[in-house]
Amino acid sequence: MTPTPLAERDAFRLSRFGAVWQQELEDIFVDVAPYYDRANYVASLGLWGWFSRRFMAMIELRPGQRVLDVCAGTNAVGIALLKREPSLEVHAIDRSAAMQAVGRQRAEALGMHIDGRIGDVHVLPFPDNHFDVVTLQWASRHLRVHDLFREIHRVLKPGGHFHHCDMLRPGNPLIERLYYAFLRISLPITGLFYRSGTAAMNARKYFIDAIEAFYTADELSQVLRGLGYCEVESKSLLAGMIGLHRAAKSEPGQPCPGIAKHRGHGSH
Ligand SMILES: C[S@@+](CC[C@H](N)C(=O)[O-])C[C@H]1O[C@@H](n2cnc3c(N)ncnc32)[C@H](O)[C@@H]1O
Repeated sequence: MTPTPLAERDAFRLSRFGAVWQQELEDIFVDVAPYYDRANYVASLGLWGWFSRRFMAMIELRPGQRVLDVCAGTNAVGIALLKREPSLEVHAIDRSAAMQAVGRQRAEALGMHIDGRIGDVHVLPFPDNHFDVVTLQWASRHLRVHDLFREIHRVLKPGGHFHHCDMLRPGNPLIERLYYAFLRISLPITGLFYRSGTAAMNARKYFIDAIEAFYTADELSQVLRGLGYCEVESKSLLAGMIGLHRAAKSEPGQPCPGIAKHRGHGSH
C-alpha cells in the first residue's frame, strides 16, 4: 500500500479504523487482559522482554519525579519504572477497565502504588506542565497520533521528556512484507494457544492493516518535531519493525535547537 502523505496520515487512519478504535478495541482488551503479558512473549518469539529493556534503557529518571504512563494497560511500564526508582510518583491512564484491573493487581502484589484512571487519552485529565516524564508503549497504532502527542506536550513540564515505543511500518518494502507474513502466522497461533475470543481473533487483519497505514520511525520523528518537540532521538529495532523515540519539551523562551540526534541501527 502506498502511504498517504504525512499531513493526511491521521485523517486517513481515522477514516479507515475509526469504527474499530471506537468499539472493537474495548472488546479486544477485555478478551486479552488476563493473558495479555504472556501472549506478547509468545507472539514475539520471546523478544518482548528485550524490546522493553531497550525502551527502558532510553528513559532517564531522577528520584521523586512525576511520571504519566499513557495507555498503561496492565501497568508494565509503570512497574518497570518503579522497580528502577521506587520514589517516583507514577500515574496511569487507559480506557480499558479490564486491563487496568490486571495492572492494579500486578502493582499491588509488588507493594507498588500506581495512580490509575480510566479514560480516553486523547484528552488527558491533567493540568498543563505537570509531568517530568510521559511514556506511551505499544498503543499509538490505535490512536490519533497528532492529537495525542499534542496533549502529551501540554501536560509535560518544560524540560520534561516524552518516551514512545511501538510497532512501526518498516521503511524497507522487503522487510515490510516479511513482517506482515510473520504476523499472519504468529497472531493466529497465539490466539489459538490462549483460546482468544471472537473479538481478538477477528482483529488479526486489523492489527496488520494498522501497521501498514502507520508511520515509519523517521516519519514519527518528523511528526514530533512538527508538533514542537525538541531533541528528538529515534532508535529502530529489527530493521524498523519496532521504533523507540525520545523527545523533550523546551524550556519557556528557549527555542528548539532543531538538531535531531539519531542513535542505534536501522532506518531513521
Ligand atoms: C497493546 S496495549 C499496551 C498496554 C501497555 N502500554 C503495555 O506496554 O503493555 C494498548 C492499550 O491501549 C489502550 N487504548 C487504546 N485506545 C485507547 C484510548 N483511546 N484511550 C485510552 N486507552 C486506549 C487499550 O485499552 C490497551 O490497554
